Amino acid sequence: MNLRLVVNGSERQVEAQPGESLLAVLRDRLQLTGSKYGCGEGQCGACTVLLGGRAVRSCRTEAADAAAKKITTIEGLEQPGGRLHPVQAAFLDAESFQCGYCTPGMIVAAVALLQREPDPSEEEIASGLAGNICRCGTYARIAAAVRQAAQAMRQAPGHAADQRQGRRPGHEEEMPR
Ligand code: FES
Repeated sequence: MNLRLVVNGSERQVEAQPGESLLAVLRDRLQLTGSKYGCGEGQCGACTVLLGGRAVRSCRTEAADAAAKKITTIEGLEQPGGRLHPVQAAFLDAESFQCGYCTPGMIVAAVALLQREPDPSEEEIASGLAGNICRCGTYARIAAAVRQAAQAMRQAPGHAADQRQGRRPGHEEEMPR
């Protein structure tokens, strides 16, 4: 069947089998191989993508069910000018990976967490990433990266916190030091 997907801001037409997973379509048909196949059972989080802004397991999501929503993969987190997303930059800075296999899903899950909760507590970080498994056990450094990214994003001009408080984006004198 023919599907029209909106992936990372671009409309893509793909031929997919009935019941084919979003992960298979992303990796095998669209060559977006950043999302990883781990367990294929919704248990490890390696395949996490954003669907309509929510983190989902793409291995357990039928591609056809994603057709009406915005899909964002790890590739789609790239910022203008080719810059890394603040969460990606923080993971690099805090060296929050060892083998790296879980990292794309972990980063996408962290982005979803910070969209919901810009200033998460330790418990919220732990519960927000509880569905993502790191076999190398770098959880402490992952949590450190999420805290670092949260701070960077809150301090960025135009952050939602500024808008909530009626601040104008770019008012550096109002930014936390
Ligand atoms: Fe999808 Fe493990 S591969 S949750």
